[in-house]
Amino acid sequence: MTRPLCDIKDPSLAKKGADRIEWAAKTMSVLHLIKERFKKEQPLKNIRIGACLHVTTETAELMRTLQAGGAQLALCASNPLSTQDDVTAALVENEGISVFAIKGEDHDTYYKHINFVLDTKPQITMDDGADLVSVLHSDRRKDAANVIGGTEETTTGVIRLRSMAQQKVLLFPVISVNDAKTKHMFDNRYGTGQSTIDGVIRSTNRLIAGSIFVVCGYGWCGQGIARSAKGLGARVIVVEVNPIRALEAAMDGFNVMPIAEAAKVGDFFVTATGDISVIRLEHFQNMKDGAIVANSGHFNVELALNELEKAASKTNRIRDQIEEYTLKNGKRIYVLGEGRLVNLAAAEGHPSSVMDMSFANQALAVEHIVKKHKTFHKEVYPVPEVIDNEIARLKLISMGINIDILTPEQEKYLHSWEHGT
Ligand code: ADE
Repeated sequence: MTRPLCDIKDPSLAKKGADRIEWAAKTMSVLHLIKERFKKEQPLKNIRIGACLHVTTETAELMRTLQAGGAQLALCASNPLSTQDDVTAALVENEGISVFAIKGEDHDTYYKHINFVLDTKPQITMDDGADLVSVLHSDRRKDAANVIGGTEETTTGVIRLRSMAQQKVLLFPVISVNDAKTKHMFDNRYGTGQSTIDGVIRSTNRLIAGSIFVVCGYGWCGQGIARSAKGLGARVIVVEVNPIRALEAAMDGFNVMPIAEAAKVGDFFVTATGDISVIRLEHFQNMKDGAIVANSGHFNVELALNELEKAASKTNRIRDQIEEYTLKNGKRIYVLGEGRLVNLAAAEGHPSSVMDMSFANQALAVEHIVKKHKTFHKEVYPVPEVIDNEIARLKLISMGINIDILTPEQEKYLHSWEHGT
């Protein structure tokens, strides 16, 4: 095997990475079935895929699946802090995959790595947050001509892509993996729910039970975080701007209030809104001394850290992934993972059994693009419902769960209008 082009931290970490990838793969049963079929059918033979994803053990298993289908791969990180350096080593050394990602890379290196992936002239893009597509639509527009389609993993990325499609500037079709039910209802809710709390606990080692835990945003991710915090015994407050979601949070049993009020009472704060400056200086200043603040949204824009930084008389890296800001009023605020997504910066991201479904959608979406791209326009497309349902069916089988099927009489009734009172 020739050594692929790469920029990684330390190739000697390959054994550790390979063992961790095997561990993750054990609960990725749907992706495993796809990998076995891909090996036989080679549906991605010689297709060049450029991927910009969180480089985790689960992503590694997705890469192995696409490679089994015949694809040629180049991978970079979709966040400067989410890369697992042992995984990059295993992918390069053992699988021969080009990887450009180093945990803690600076802004320039992050974009240099995206450009290295684009240098491989991908025909399919696979994004988590739409940074790869965004560079293709600005500095590298010529390379967009090679692209037959892309996939997008996350809510924030899909919002960006829809805005591009609406403004008629999108240069190729993209499948929104995030919109598949087997993705957002499970990954965003249960995955973010568990991994965010995991990041908070790993970085702080604080007790959640009995604490006041503020969750900003009650979309799928916020719901999962609130539910997990409640499950550990926290008293949970939800902050929302959308009246329907706020009502839902209230009826799910959470306290709902504006951030200005929640700021005064919370012990932990986690943002998951997808919007900018959700927690600002006036809120930091009113927090209790020792408040712990983290973000679980895609970009590091939800906490106004520039304002906090300016107002602080002192900053101190007090533990791995914890920055202490001392305000002029003497209060200390603790920010986790530099305000980047705490579940990947301070933990390992979502557990593999939930990423199994997200990445099964990714693999099948890529196959769908290869088969159908000639019929697509420059728009954002959903994952076909048959694929979504099939992933749910296979996941249930892997969990040993059987379900009923409709009787012919029930089937007929559901399509009729004659029967009434
Ligand atoms: N996003 C959230 N968790 C992830 C994981 N474990 N791998 C890749 N992307 C993720």
